[in-house]
This record gives sequence, C-alpha cells and structure tokens, in this order.
Amino acid sequence: METIHILNGPNLNLLGMRETNIYGHKTINDLEDMCRRRASENGFQVVFKQTNSESKLVDLIQEAIGKSSAIIINAAAYTHTSIAILDALKSFAGYVVEVHISDISKREEFRKFSFVSLRADLVIQGLGLDGYIEAIDKVVEKKVNK
Ligand code: DQA
Repeated sequence: METIHILNGPNLNLLGMRETNIYGHKTINDLEDMCRRRASENGFQVVFKQTNSESKLVDLIQEAIGKSSAIIINAAAYTHTSIAILDALKSFAGYVVEVHISDISKREEFRKFSFVSLRADLVIQGLGLDGYIEAIDKVVEKKVNK
C-alpha cells in the first residue's frame, strides 16, 4: 500500500482552540480522522504528524524519503521563514502538496511569501480543513493518471 506523509507545523496542535474565527472548531484529532478515512477509502495509508519544532519537521520530511509517494505539508509559521524545510522538501522526489487552512494571500504581508511554495507541486489554501481532503484527492488522482 502506498503511503502519504501528512505533516503539520507549529501551533496546529491547538486547532479547535486557537483563533477559531480563522482556523475553525475542529481539532487536530478530527483532522487526522478525516485524513485517514479519505486516504484509506482510496487505498493509501497515512503517516500523520504534528510538531512545534522546525528541526523535527525537517526530520519528518527526511523520513518520508523512499517511504512515501507524497507529502502533504502545512508548515504553519515555518512556511514563511524556513529555508531548512525548503531544502528538506527539495531532497524528496515525490509529489508535494502545500496546504494552508486560511488563505495566506489575503492576510498580513508577512504571510504572503512561502518558502514551501518554491518546491510544492500544488498549493491549496483557504479551504479550511477540507483543503487536506482536496490534497489527498489530488495525490490519488496523480496515481490514477500515472
Ligand atoms: C497556516 C497559515 C500560517 O501563516 C500560520 O502561521 C499558521 C497556519 C494555515 O494553515 O492557514 O500557523 O499555515
């Protein structure tokens, strides 16, 4: 069975409590359940992780190398700051989908630039948690069309 790594950066452990006007009321556990269900319906297994640490996020990306056909990543605030995460993603040969719950193009200036976008094959933003489901569907489509 093919694997998808779904990786979440800092503060996403607080989903459901944090700025609910922007990020909604569902928790990270709800998100994990949604992702696992959609992936398994389509014959994929999921490695789902969240970390507040930049270096751990780099480690998790490296763990996907040779193991997963795709990485779906919401690097959260590191999106806008981390060359280390960009470099790690560049070492991964598979499909990369960048997800943001909010539409970062319509928020503060400092959120408009994304290092992750320099490597991502696809960017999905502003769809709430459904953006992750859309990302899984795109990974599945990619495999079907191969
Ligand atoms: C986010 C957007 C980032 O700018 C922010 O730092 C986050 C979440 C999103 O999913 O909308 O923590 O990645």
